[in-house]
Amino acid sequence: MSSLQTDTPLSLHHLHVTSDKPEALAAFYEDLFELARMNSHGDAIVLAAGERAVVIGDGKPGELAAAAYTARDHAALALLRARLDDLAEPPPSTASLLFHDDAFTVRDPQGRRLILGVARVPRSADRMAARVQHTVFQTTELEKVLDFYVNRIGFAVSDEVVDEDGALMTCFLRSDDEHHSLAFFRGSNNAWDHHCYETRSWNDIRDWGDRFARARRSIFFGPGRHGPGNNLFFMVTDPDGNRIELSAELVQVDAGGLPGVWPHEEYTLNSWGRGWIRT
Ligand SMILES: [Fe+2]
Repeated sequence: MSSLQTDTPLSLHHLHVTSDKPEALAAFYEDLFELARMNSHGDAIVLAAGERAVVIGDGKPGELAAAAYTARDHAALALLRARLDDLAEPPPSTASLLFHDDAFTVRDPQGRRLILGVARVPRSADRMAARVQHTVFQTTELEKVLDFYVNRIGFAVSDEVVDEDGALMTCFLRSDDEHHSLAFFRGSNNAWDHHCYETRSWNDIRDWGDRFARARRSIFFGPGRHGPGNNLFFMVTDPDGNRIELSAELVQVDAGGLPGVWPHEEYTLNSWGRGWIRT
């Protein structure tokens, strides 16, 4: 079956977050993630490094204005645009520093924005590896958003988490060979849950843990190993309370891989210890 993974792979490239203290939030990402300020573009601060980037705009803290995914090249993006033309809207002006001019935006049924484009600058190694890799949302309308992302956009289901009655609680979606670049939890509100950086090894997880420790930002979940994706992880928060995950060993999934089904329990969320079950 054709999908993003088979036809036009996408990987997460940057996030556009909003904050009521954008300078303070920018300072955190500049210091901790070694991001360089490209410039201030209108209200937004654009920060980038080799494998990570973030746009910080004025607005309500804790919200994700857009998640931006890069196609491999312009031909792939054109194929995607042709398929999604009826949904396409102009991208925000801040995207132009990071993406070429053929970028476009689509909105999901609950108003989340995806920016789809081609990165202006090829990725390069950072001094401390941590490639922005996936983002996750809580939703009150799980079936509706999954129908959009799978059947309309072309994400593939890698793993599902179901409760004891068989109701779907979480769904992990891939857009290339990596287990997930996007996921949704069923919850009581519609909120941004977290974003994640993929490192190269467990030793990198150690080094990032030490870095956050020096900044007195303590781990609130993990270290542990997730069931779906089998990745090692821990989570911290930024000054706005946005949850940040550092990960290693996220598995790859073949295009023909069938979705796995996991029970909704602590062991699934963290096979090493306590889970953090959203409600
Ligand atoms: Fe995650």
